[in-house]
Amino acid sequence: MCGIVAYVGHREAYPLIIKGLKRLEYRGYDSAGVALLIGGELTIYKKKGKVADLEASLIDAHPTSTIGMGHTRWATHGEPNDRNAHPHYSHSGRLAIIHNGIIENYEAIKQKLQSKGYEFRSDTDSEVFVNFIEDIQKATASSLEEAVRLAMQEVVGAYAIVLMSAEPEDSGLLIAARKGSPLVIGVGEDEYFFASDATPIIEYTKEVIYLDDHQIAVVRAGELTVTNIDNVPQSPYIQTVELELEAIEKGGFEHFMLKEIFEQPRSVKDCMRGRVSADEGYLVLGGLRDYLDSIAKSKRIVIVACGTSWHAGLVAEYIFEELARIPVEVEYASEFRYRNPIIKEGDVVIAISQSGETMDTLAALELAKSKGAIILGVCNVVGSSIPRLTHAGAYTHAGPEIGVASTKAFTAQVTVLTLMAIAVARKKGILHEDTFRRLLFELERIPDKIEKVLKSAEKIKEMAWQFHEARNFLYLGRGSNFPVALEGALKLKEISYIHAEGYPAAEMKHGPIALIDQDMPVVFIATRDNSYEKIVSNIQEVKARKGKVIAVVTEGDKLIPTLADHVLEVPITHEILTPLLSVVPLQLLSYYIAVMRGCNVDQPRNLAKSVTVE
Ligand code: M6R
Repeated sequence: MCGIVAYVGHREAYPLIIKGLKRLEYRGYDSAGVALLIGGELTIYKKKGKVADLEASLIDAHPTSTIGMGHTRWATHGEPNDRNAHPHYSHSGRLAIIHNGIIENYEAIKQKLQSKGYEFRSDTDSEVFVNFIEDIQKATASSLEEAVRLAMQEVVGAYAIVLMSAEPEDSGLLIAARKGSPLVIGVGEDEYFFASDATPIIEYTKEVIYLDDHQIAVVRAGELTVTNIDNVPQSPYIQTVELELEAIEKGGFEHFMLKEIFEQPRSVKDCMRGRVSADEGYLVLGGLRDYLDSIAKSKRIVIVACGTSWHAGLVAEYIFEELARIPVEVEYASEFRYRNPIIKEGDVVIAISQSGETMDTLAALELAKSKGAIILGVCNVVGSSIPRLTHAGAYTHAGPEIGVASTKAFTAQVTVLTLMAIAVARKKGILHEDTFRRLLFELERIPDKIEKVLKSAEKIKEMAWQFHEARNFLYLGRGSNFPVALEGALKLKEISYIHAEGYPAAEMKHGPIALIDQDMPVVFIATRDNSYEKIVSNIQEVKARKGKVIAVVTEGDKLIPTLADHVLEVPITHEILTPLLSVVPLQLLSYYIAVMRGCNVDQPRNLAKSVTVE
């Protein structure tokens, strides 16, 4: 939800900021803007549309400055247009702000400011924030840092902000603060970078600081200081990010989404690296070591997540209950946090999140922690908010996922959760050595099997052509392939804008069957498992009503190809690992359909990669 980047140092700020904004565009892309200090004045350029539109509009401008900040927006307050694009000037024009997040009490603050004569140029809460700071500074005759601190004590909501000032005494000054929205500081040689994540920074420095909530970072006269909201100096921990540039570039693929689908053999391998060895009968999740005993003794596990991560949680429910025999509840984080959930001391709450920043998931976890639960995280982005809040956890190590549609994050999450379930079952002493060895053996073969599924990309592309004009899609599966049906439907709708629904196959008779006619494509995830015969009957029911059946089947299946209109094969594996394979053809199908419909696959309309607002 909005990307922010700022720079102060000895380089040309404008090209650096534009490049950084392009890397952050996955976070929002309805408008973009840049503020630079030029000749002692704050100069703002901003425009509705993509960063490239802003860049094109400035092709002849050649703005020059060594200090500046930029923003790419996902609209919350006010429609996407030039006026509402960031940065925003304060009333006097002497301050400018970029903001990621939401100020909940902005209306009350705005009214107070209006009664004092402040006028507003936009509909945003961010413009209210910068004017509030300006008003406090005027009223208290304090430094800008102090005014920011006082404003932070009053505003309610979530934010990461960066401010610049045109006052001569503030020359070279950048101020940043965070509460609830991510902010990373890059520490270079006589230069500093601020950004929503490390991707705009790593080209210049690998040394970063993750700012914590209620902290304020100030670069003044080339010196960085970090204090908290009570003005207590902080000693920020500088860490080295292990992120290479090629990981955040397309590497010859047409879209990030396609690159990330094809990366899955490697990302699944990376997420098991050093953790699993079938030969040695070895499984270690270092980050969970101290909590394994408590998890094994827990009476129930609650999983909280959103979107695709929630689907991974549903798959994990089957695996945990099957192997570890602990009851699992999977909750939408947004519902969990607002319904006074019953959490007992010693309950285990696992948050799953690719970004580690999803606001609802973070809030659900805070609530669970306050009620005495053991809170764990399964996240991809190292150093993000969720892993910093949890007692323990396991990173997925899938590498940066930039396409808005989550693909490799899902398979990595399911892999890590499977490892957790196996480790807990071992700890409980209820997993037979043979089953343990077989699971590890099969897990180690998953990357090669995904590779094999990817070989059918051309076939899936041809099939996609026949369905790219469909108006609706139904996805059906049973057991742990039911969440795969949900995931297939989500993938299709979010990038192609085709209406799609996922259901447990048996639920079809309770309503959705009424939709089936010759124009309804129905995707069955029908791999060989203990509900195979039942799903075959469901396929027949759809065929009897002239629906078009696409079936994902286990290699060598002889029966379903005689019933379905199209089949996509996946290799055989241990039944509980099937979702790691069966999801892949569905990702590809959605991708190709979306491309054929001319959709912007990596940046679908109305969406953003990281949902840091409720
Ligand atoms: O970063 P998170 O995993 O917490 O994000 C959760 C959802 O916002 C995310 O999975 C979303 O549903 C994706 N667009 C799905 O492709």
